[in-house]
Amino acid sequence: MTSELAVDDLVVRFPLRSAMVARLLGRTSEVLTAVDGLSFTVPPGESVAVVGESGCGKSTLARCLVGLQAPTAGRIRLGGQVLPRRRTRGDRRRIQMVFQDPSSSLNPTMTVATMLAELLHVHDLARGDQVRARVAELLELVQLPGRIAAAYPRDLSGGQRQRIGIARALALEPEVLVADEAVAALDASVQASVLNLFAELRARLGLTLIFISHDLAAVRHVADRVMVMYLGAVVEDRPAESLFTDPQHPYTQALLDAAPRLDRRLGDEPSLPGEPPSPVALPSGCRFHPRCIHAIDHCRETEPVLTGPSATDRTACHLAWRDTHERR
Ligand SMILES: Nc1ncnc2c1ncn2[C@@H]1O[C@H](COP(=O)(O)OP(=O)(O)OP(=O)(O)O)[C@@H](O)[C@H]1O
Ligand SMILES: [Mg+2]
Repeated sequence: MTSELAVDDLVVRFPLRSAMVARLLGRTSEVLTAVDGLSFTVPPGESVAVVGESGCGKSTLARCLVGLQAPTAGRIRLGGQVLPRRRTRGDRRRIQMVFQDPSSSLNPTMTVATMLAELLHVHDLARGDQVRARVAELLELVQLPGRIAAAYPRDLSGGQRQRIGIARALALEPEVLVADEAVAALDASVQASVLNLFAELRARLGLTLIFISHDLAAVRHVADRVMVMYLGAVVEDRPAESLFTDPQHPYTQALLDAAPRLDRRLGDEPSLPGEPPSPVALPSGCRFHPRCIHAIDHCRETEPVLTGPSATDRTACHLAWRDTHERR
């Protein structure tokens, strides 16, 4: 059974200089805000993509979800139950992560079968004859041939290694799978097949999928819903189809413009100048205003809240949901 995932007012701040050092230097202690008050709920079995430029807080959110990072404030609930800061083994099993680079988490001295068997044993999920059957089942789930059980990580291709990374996460029978840039390191054709695998696993197992990527185009076919993050906050949270066909936030529009497209004419430059400002000094008002080509005075002064036609169709922009056509 999969449960609803809820994130309530999640904040993660990293102190950059200790208070004591700051006092000695006569400066204020600096704090980097990586995640700045995220709140959202994900119904069981939904597939949500989290996208945004490098440094906007996607991995920090992922690490909080799986319990690798303690939030500064806020909480995470699964099926109404608050997950404690220090998770029990049982809590950890419920939300599993698939990392970008599977090689770093695979033990080079163990075969695939030994690795998976050890995991099943540690979590007391299979015994005796069941272990071999479950390993075979896991390989089948990630669409690898049974002979891979005897292989070492070095014998595997990048795509196969990532499938083993996914099998390891699935071995723990999670309710939520968090994939952080899980296909970013793979060749384009392998990316497509691993993306398909995620979609199939979700359909087959009813998993909730949180799919993190800096590449908006890559998530189009796996996500029911897309959350766009900018400087630690969600600026647009919409059903995927609406977001791709009628983006409301200028940042989302710019990300879509920046994606490679066959129909781009010469001289049609993407409309996203520069890089995000430092998360140590967040801009006043709307956090995107310094880079927004539509910004007006109100945007510099007042922070927009996420609003829209429904709780699952929201944008944080003073200019959204009106004059869309004028702004383009
Ligand atoms: N342990 C840490 N200490 C200090 N700052 C950190 C720490 N972890 C992350 N940060 C900072 O928090 C911000 C968000 O980082 P995060 O890794 O979550 O971004 P991201 O969206 O995953 O980026 P990318 O697309 O490059 O993976 C960045 O400015 C980063 O430098
Ligand atoms: Mg990251």
